Amino acid sequence: MTFRLKMEQTSKKNGSNIVLALDFPFEKPENRQNLFAKADQVLDAVRPHLCAVKFNHHLILPLGTFDGAKKLLEKAHQNGLLTIMDCKVNDIGATNQVIAEYYYAAGFDALIANPFIGWEEGLKPIFDVAGQMGRGVILLVYMSHKAAGEGYGQTIIEAESGTKAFQYLSFARKALKYGADGAVVGATYPEKIRQVHEILGEKVPIYSPGIGVQGATVQPAVKAGARYLIVGREITLSENPAEAAKKVKELAKSVT
Ligand code: XMP
Repeated sequence: MTFRLKMEQTSKKNGSNIVLALDFPFEKPENRQNLFAKADQVLDAVRPHLCAVKFNHHLILPLGTFDGAKKLLEKAHQNGLLTIMDCKVNDIGATNQVIAEYYYAAGFDALIANPFIGWEEGLKPIFDVAGQMGRGVILLVYMSHKAAGEGYGQTIIEAESGTKAFQYLSFARKALKYGADGAVVGATYPEKIRQVHEILGEKVPIYSPGIGVQGATVQPAVKAGARYLIVGREITLSENPAEAAKKVKELAKSVT
């Protein structure tokens, strides 16, 4: 079964389209046991409100991919959640292949990659490994931060067609062509979500980060076509992470 389908089923079963970004501020490396305990606690509290957990360097660097991070990943799986590694792979193909092999070997169900690198000797080896191991690849299409337009919003001449296009719309078409399992578009740009959704339809689901601390709200993103919401600090830094997660989940459900 493809990752895209697994997400659909898990989201339906759990009654949630929330992907928790399990991120915490820097802790001194010697205190990494506290960091592990905090991540473990938040995961325990919040899991009934999720369909997946997204890991980033925040945990991989201090806890180790095959050590603390893997324990949290296994816990997520034991609780019926899927796992995504937000490594934004962005290197030459031979390196990308090894990055993908390690993250998938650790147990991640999908990883995020950057389409700026192109297909041959770029994305292709990642999709090949994902296909062999039955895992997913999610592509960046338009990032959530303020300066996203400087890269993803540029007007380009498409290499293949020689025609003028917006970079992010070109990436959306490529996500469809490559059979990506998802496309990331910031919830901070609902109009961009709408345009990308027009291209992708229901074939490639949109993952939207940016809710809460980055300033986006739930309803405009979901109305525009975001299928899954990636939410981090709004939940992880809340005094009551379970309440915060429940609130985002219910707001998203109230739109659909
Ligand atoms: P917050 O705390 O802002 O965290 O809810 C968001 C999480 O998602 C990551 N992030 C992105 N990942 N494309 C991505 O692949 C994006 O456009 C994007 N914007 C935010 C961020 O690093 C954090 O883990």
